[in-house]
Amino acid sequence: MLKRIVFVLIAWMAVSNAYAQNGVYSIIPKPASLQPGKGVFILDQQTHLVAKSDAAKRNADLFNDFLWNRYKLKLTVTPDTSGNAIIIEEQGNEQEAYTLNVSTDKISIKGGNSGGFYAFQTVLQLIETQNGGLIIPAVSIADKPAFGYRGVMIDVARHFFSLDEMKKIVDAMAYFKFNRLHWHLTEDQGWRLEIKKYPKLTQLSAWRDSTIIGQYGDFKPFVYDGEKHGGYYTQDEARELVKYAADRKITIVPEIELPGHSTAVLAAYPEFGCKDTTYHVPGYWGVHYSIFCPKEETFKFLEDVLTEVMDIFPSEFIHIGGDEVPKEHWKESAFAQKLISKQKLKDEHGLQSYFITRIEKFLNQHGRRLVGWDEILEGGLAPNATVMSWRGEAGGIAAARMGHDVIMSPNSHLYLDHYQAKDGKTEPVAIGGFLPLERVYSYHPKPDSLTAEQQKHVLGVQGNLWTEYIPTNNKLEYMLFPRILALSEVAWTERADQNYDDFSTKRLPLRLQELEQMNVFYRIPEAKIRFGTASSGRKTVEIIPFVNNSTIYYTVDGHKADQAATLYSGPIQLPYSAKPLTLNYIIVTPGGRISNMFSVSLADSK
Ligand code: ACM
Repeated sequence: MLKRIVFVLIAWMAVSNAYAQNGVYSIIPKPASLQPGKGVFILDQQTHLVAKSDAAKRNADLFNDFLWNRYKLKLTVTPDTSGNAIIIEEQGNEQEAYTLNVSTDKISIKGGNSGGFYAFQTVLQLIETQNGGLIIPAVSIADKPAFGYRGVMIDVARHFFSLDEMKKIVDAMAYFKFNRLHWHLTEDQGWRLEIKKYPKLTQLSAWRDSTIIGQYGDFKPFVYDGEKHGGYYTQDEARELVKYAADRKITIVPEIELPGHSTAVLAAYPEFGCKDTTYHVPGYWGVHYSIFCPKEETFKFLEDVLTEVMDIFPSEFIHIGGDEVPKEHWKESAFAQKLISKQKLKDEHGLQSYFITRIEKFLNQHGRRLVGWDEILEGGLAPNATVMSWRGEAGGIAAARMGHDVIMSPNSHLYLDHYQAKDGKTEPVAIGGFLPLERVYSYHPKPDSLTAEQQKHVLGVQGNLWTEYIPTNNKLEYMLFPRILALSEVAWTERADQNYDDFSTKRLPLRLQELEQMNVFYRIPEAKIRFGTASSGRKTVEIIPFVNNSTIYYTVDGHKADQAATLYSGPIQLPYSAKPLTLNYIIVTPGGRISNMFSVSLADSK
């Protein structure tokens, strides 16, 4: 007991300085309102959890799981509110808003069932180890999300990822308060979901013989790796992920691509194509010509597939793709041309609209909503469709003006398959583009060109991770993190409360150190570089890394920086030089990971 009192005292003194005075509450995404308190709550074996409903108990159990995995601490769940207690009062609905009050002996959580879950995520982000114990600084938080749809898309078709890896991503998404995982399950290069009525989808369509190496265009003709690649989720596994995600307040939005990106299906069932030919599951990327033929047999197939999909996935939204549909096969098909005249359609775009509208009607009859990529606008938007705007914002703007709901995922700001450095040669191979952390953070999902009424149709945002060039779990995580932390703030935090400097230098460093402890293979970001002038008149350069407790090694003579270079210990006084200098540096994390070497021109250092 005495030991505990001493610890409480030490912790209180240390933390009342560290937190209350500096105001460092490193929560991502930043809460809507936060009032620092005085003192700390001690989290230990004597703390108990008070959960008054089954839903609240489920949240408490997940909190306990996290505490156990991370700190080997397990709290008892009791109705007793005396002493050191975390008390959850939930309203029994799915509201995402919550309030959280931490005082020296009580933590009070109020909100809907989702809000209660998010309050726990916030509490977890507030835990600090101090003198061998765990403390939570006193605070009052009232929080709610800016957007109702906060998504990440993972393409598991270009490369297959295990259920365990998907769960790891779900855990991390939940930690940053995302609520939609868009699961891109079908592609030209592979089909990933067991469909009981069509076993060849998993026997044949789920596998390709070989995959090209390097970036598309590195080798012409293509060079293949000669390795069979593929895999799929059984329906039981998909249900397991649905439940796992739902417990963490994430809805899985499944995507079944149509009418394009369908070569893998046609390889098994060529009768659903327009051409009398054989198809193969391709091992190279890009837009493929093999698309579904709008025959009755095809619609029957798609409805059968979607029936099984709806049975697995309770999501209101079902994504049907709709992007990148080359019309050549329809132009050459007597059947497709006859259908265009019979239905009095204008052209092949009209036929695409007919195709999507039929599928929408089927989904609507089953109480679901269709969402598709912005190409579904071409030839006329299906009456109730929601548009996911990826080719910039234009599609989303057009749809919102027509009164349709929209999810913004523009390739200009939210394509997580793009490079994280300007010079792609310093990074692992990616599809192209340049999307640094700060650019993700700068995204504003409600275009100013929309009226306030039209802006209400913007349900939210989504980052997309296409996996043509992502064959491993580490690389998947490298591309997601830390960029989805920036995205979480775009999605959750009101624009007026966003501030990149605060995010990256004040709150991100602790979160990245923590991600490392969770074995998430995040990309170590470039540091913030600040120039100054010393009292001697010499120029100085300060390196501010975004990973807590990391070390920096640098050179200014243009040579390579590695762990044999100079250890950074504070602003560098630059030498006078007639020739412009270059700062090279690496960041070594507390866990021992080493960043890429970053270079900064010091042209003004003379
Ligand atoms: C897409 O990136 N083709 C939606």
